[in-house]
Amino acid sequence: MKALVYHGPGKKNWEEMPKPTLIKPTDAIVKINKTTICGTDLHILKGDVPEVTDGRILGHEGVGVIEEVGTAVTGFKKGDRVLISCITSCGKCEYCKKGMYSHCEDGGWILGHLIDGTQAEYVRIPHADNSLYHIPDNANEEALVMLSDILPTGFECGVLNGQVKPGDTVAIVGAGPIGLAALLTAQFYTPAEIIMIDQDDNRLAVSRQFGATQTINNRNEDAIKRIYQLTGNKGADVVIEAVGVPATFELCESIVSPGGHIANIGVHGKSASLHLEKLWSHNITITTRLVDTVTTPMLLKTVCSHKLEPGKLITHRFPIANVLQAYDTFQHADVEKTLKVILVNE
Ligand SMILES: NC(=O)c1ccc[n+]([C@@H]2O[C@H](COP(=O)([O-])OP(=O)(O)OC[C@H]3O[C@@H](n4cnc5c(N)ncnc54)[C@H](O)[C@@H]3O)[C@@H](O)[C@H]2O)c1
Ligand SMILES: [Zn+2]
Ligand SMILES: [Zn+2]
Repeated sequence: MKALVYHGPGKKNWEEMPKPTLIKPTDAIVKINKTTICGTDLHILKGDVPEVTDGRILGHEGVGVIEEVGTAVTGFKKGDRVLISCITSCGKCEYCKKGMYSHCEDGGWILGHLIDGTQAEYVRIPHADNSLYHIPDNANEEALVMLSDILPTGFECGVLNGQVKPGDTVAIVGAGPIGLAALLTAQFYTPAEIIMIDQDDNRLAVSRQFGATQTINNRNEDAIKRIYQLTGNKGADVVIEAVGVPATFELCESIVSPGGHIANIGVHGKSASLHLEKLWSHNITITTRLVDTVTTPMLLKTVCSHKLEPGKLITHRFPIANVLQAYDTFQHADVEKTLKVILVNE
């Protein structure tokens, strides 16, 4: 089969690889129908995730069809259409029992990271019973690809951890796919205002179409001053960090209201300053989280009933054999106006 293989920082290739086979009785082999590229894949290619080694197939999102299941898999059979979770989980260990699948003792984020991933014609999924979801008939497969990672991430790490409530003012720093997923799912709770902050005018325009009540381009204007103007000098009740650099986390600290929440989503490679000299008395809560994907079944229902339309995040489509061109388009998101790309395996 063909797959997108990582060969060290800056190097990747679409090349022939052995088709995966069952290793444990709890595994399934899935033929990929559609997959995509994540901001995290770009972090890997920059060399930010050194555990990813030369020869690894990238990708942790996708939908497909079961090709083969191990003898211990009871929930799936050959021919079933499935959604692949970016998080692999056994469902049995102490962390899984707490609903913290991201820290599963025999899983977590391993796809396209510690084991071969989904940017390929076939993928092996460990703990298939707990790591795959059945695709309902008539569901839009493309839209479901957004459920492998970005929707549960925006919702769990941003909206749930930030405790968004009716009437709240929510500020989201970063209007990439993850920030936009937080914007879409924050609206389950009818906040009064959702303010998006980014440096890309196209992404801010998309944010307004997706329900942002205000947008701030912090390249051109002082975001802190504007947030205080918009909130009667109070700051935002919930601030969601969806970028992953020190400057944006520190911006979150500056715009959170007393009693508010900062929900960090971004993957950080450097430490950020925590301004306790100001915040110690502000009754704030700061949360961090690796997505658990425990809300995937709920999100799947909202997508199938069209309450949530994540297909709106898809801007480009390519045959999977053109994956290198797709990476190029994804890497030049500002020029190409890219949000999510879909790679189709015919
Ligand atoms: N916690 C988790 O489980 C988890 C899961 C998936 C992704 N992530 C992380 O979430 C983050 C967002 O992911 P994404 O795919 O949307 O990334 P992305 O790179 O597509 O989007 C980031 C956005 O931030 C904007 N930005 C950059 N610098 C800025 C600044 N100084 N001020 C304001 N805006 C700025 C960019 O213009 C861009 O629109 C990444 O760090 C990613 O690795 C975390
Ligand atoms: Zn991802
Ligand atoms: Zn587990």
